[in-house]
Amino acid sequence: MSHADDRAESSALTNQQGLFIVLEGIDGAGTTTQAKRLANSLAEYSIGCHLTREPTDNPIGKLLREILTGAHRPTDATTLGLLFAADRADHLQREIFPALQAGKVVISDRYYHSSLAYQGSEEDREWISQLNKRARSPDRTFFLKVDPEVAATRRKADDRDEELFDSVNTQLRVAQGYEEVVRSLSPDEDIVVLDGHQSLDTLSADILRSTLALLGREHEG
Ligand code: TMP
Repeated sequence: MSHADDRAESSALTNQQGLFIVLEGIDGAGTTTQAKRLANSLAEYSIGCHLTREPTDNPIGKLLREILTGAHRPTDATTLGLLFAADRADHLQREIFPALQAGKVVISDRYYHSSLAYQGSEEDREWISQLNKRARSPDRTFFLKVDPEVAATRRKADDRDEELFDSVNTQLRVAQGYEEVVRSLSPDEDIVVLDGHQSLDTLSADILRSTLALLGREHEG
């Protein structure tokens, strides 16, 4: 059985009610902005949601953010792959499953596709995939596809602190990694590729409409 089949089976066994949405893309693709916009729009429809992110704000996620911002001596892709997978397993138990069971829409800014694209471009991607095989599949993932040079310009404009994967060469490699990941995902995996160069409002409207459709609700915009 392939990894993707494993995931489909384990998600079928969990019997959750809510809806699990993920935003993915290279650094500067706009996942954080779009995740927040979706949460705000759903609130306007009085739809309960839980906005979250990876690395998480839980203990393993905090350690990961310290590593990403250079607070510790650099580590390797193997260690990062294990830590991100552990943070994710903990994220599912602490936050994602309880919110889904409460019938909420969970919106995660990044999930296992990030591990496959980032760590999987330095480590054996199949091994990274195995580490994540128990992670429930999202009901829909929006992949914001943005040119790495455009994303680099946006990151500079944001004036945020330098992080581990910020170099243009790394982002080119990760962008290539995402292309391979999107191509090789199981057909059961619901991933929508969006042109991330469109205006923020156009993208938000598309993401909202698509999420509402999964909920059986009409877009009122
Ligand atoms: P962000 O919060 O600015 O998106 O930063 C998170 C960074 O961590 C970003 O560079 C992507 C990276 N990352 C991985 O390398 N692997 C993962 O599994 C996740 C969730 C994030």
